[in-house]
Amino acid sequence: MVKRQFPRPAEILDLMKFKKPELDGKKRRLDQALTIYDLRDIAKRRTPKAAFDYTDGAAEGELSLARARQAFEDVEFSPRILRPATDVDTSSTILGGPAAYPFAIAPAGFTRLMQTEGEIAGASAAGAAGIPFTLSTLGTTSIEDVKAANPHGRNWFQLYVMRNRDISYGLVERAAAAGFDTLHFTVDTPVAGARLRDKRNGFSIPPQLTLGTIVNAIPRPWWWFDFLTTPKLEFASLSTTGGTVGELLDAAMDPTISFDDLDIIREMWPGKIVIKGVQNVEDAKTLASLGVDGIVLSNHGGRQLDRAPIPFHLLPEVVREVGGDVEIGIDTGIMNGADIVASVALGAKFTMIGRAYLYGLMAGGRAGVDRAIEILTGEIVRTMKLLGASSLAELEPAHVTQLERLTPRAR
Ligand SMILES: Cc1cc2nc3c(=O)[nH]c(=O)nc-3n(C[C@H](O)[C@H](O)[C@H](O)COP(=O)(O)O)c2cc1C
Repeated sequence: MVKRQFPRPAEILDLMKFKKPELDGKKRRLDQALTIYDLRDIAKRRTPKAAFDYTDGAAEGELSLARARQAFEDVEFSPRILRPATDVDTSSTILGGPAAYPFAIAPAGFTRLMQTEGEIAGASAAGAAGIPFTLSTLGTTSIEDVKAANPHGRNWFQLYVMRNRDISYGLVERAAAAGFDTLHFTVDTPVAGARLRDKRNGFSIPPQLTLGTIVNAIPRPWWWFDFLTTPKLEFASLSTTGGTVGELLDAAMDPTISFDDLDIIREMWPGKIVIKGVQNVEDAKTLASLGVDGIVLSNHGGRQLDRAPIPFHLLPEVVREVGGDVEIGIDTGIMNGADIVASVALGAKFTMIGRAYLYGLMAGGRAGVDRAIEILTGEIVRTMKLLGASSLAELEPAHVTQLERLTPRAR
C-alpha cells in the first residue's frame, strides 16, 4: 500500500519556480529554437512564401537535397570510451587562415530578400564567431560594405564568371583590394537549375505585388515593413533584373566557361583559389594537378542538377586521391553540427553552410544568424565530447560509418 499524506504548502511553494517572462519577443522566439529545423519553422512563419521557397527550395524534384540530408542522417558514429574530453579545441587553419570552427558561411544570392539585414548580418555574425563569410557575386551588399561589417574577420568572395567578363574581373579586383583572402570559383552553374517552386510562385526579381503576394503578406507585416522602408532590393554588382533568379542566371552566366578561365583568374587573384561545385573524383584530380588550393564538393544545395552525386558519399574517395595536395571542403545538406563533425572525421578540412544560416537570418536577422551558429557550434562540441575527441585532429574515419541506402550500380 502507498502511504499518502495531505499536500504540504511549504513543499508546493518550493516547487514553484516561475521564471521572469522574456519581454524581448525576438529573443524569446530564438531561444525556443533548439535545432536548425526549429529555426526553419520560425523562418517559414515570418517570411513571404516566395522568398522562403526561393531559399528552402531546390531544383526539379529536389532529390539531390533530400538525398544529401539523408546521407548525413544515415551517419553512424563510433564513440571511443574513457577518453576525457573536458576541453575541446574546434579551431584549425583553413586555406592559410584561422577558423574557430571547421565551417564557413556559404555564398547565397539575393540575401536581403530573405531578411533585410542580409549579408551584413551574415558577415558580422561570422566575424564574431571566428568563421569565414563568403559573399556571392549575386549578393545584395557591396564588397566594401561586407568588409566594413566584418573588418577583422575573414571574408571570402564567390565568383560567377559572366558573359560580360569585365564585370567579373572587376569584382575580383575589388575583392582583392578589400582584403578578401579566398576566391571561390563556382563551376556547377553553366545554366540555372529548374527551381520549380520559383516558377509556381511567379517569383521574380524584384518581387512584385500581386493579389497573391498581398494576401500572403498579411500575417507577415514585419518583412514587408523592412522591405518597403530600406534601400531598394537589388543585386549589388549586377544591373540585370526582371524574371526569376533562374532566368537572370541564364542571362548573366557564360555557359562556355572552361579551365582557361581558371588560368586567367589565377593571374588576377593574389589569395587562395577554391573551385566550388566539384562532383567527381576525376575533376578533383585534374584540379589538384592544376595546383588549386582547395575544392568544395557540392551540388549547390541541390539547386542545379537534380539527382547529382551526394557530396558526403564522394568525400572519402576524393580525400584519398587528392587530400594530400588540396584542402577539401564540402557542403549541401548540413543541418546539424554532427554533420560537420562527420565530414571532418572523413577528411574534410572545412564545410560550408547555406540554408542552415539563412533559416536563422529569416528567423531573426543578425540575432537569428548568431543563434544558428550557436546551435551548430554547440552540436559540434557536444558530438566531439561524446566521441571522445578533444581536437579536430583526433577525429578520424574510424569514428564514422556511412550507412548507404543507394548503392551505385557496377559499371
Ligand atoms: C538561397 C540560396 C542562394 C544561393 N546562391 C548561391 C550563389 O550565389 N553562389 C553560389 O556559389 N552558391 C549559391 N548557393 C549555394 C550555396 O553556396 C551552398 O552551396 C548550398 O546552399 C549548400 O547547401 P545547404 O543549403 O544545404 O547548406 C545558394 C544557396 C541557396 C540556398
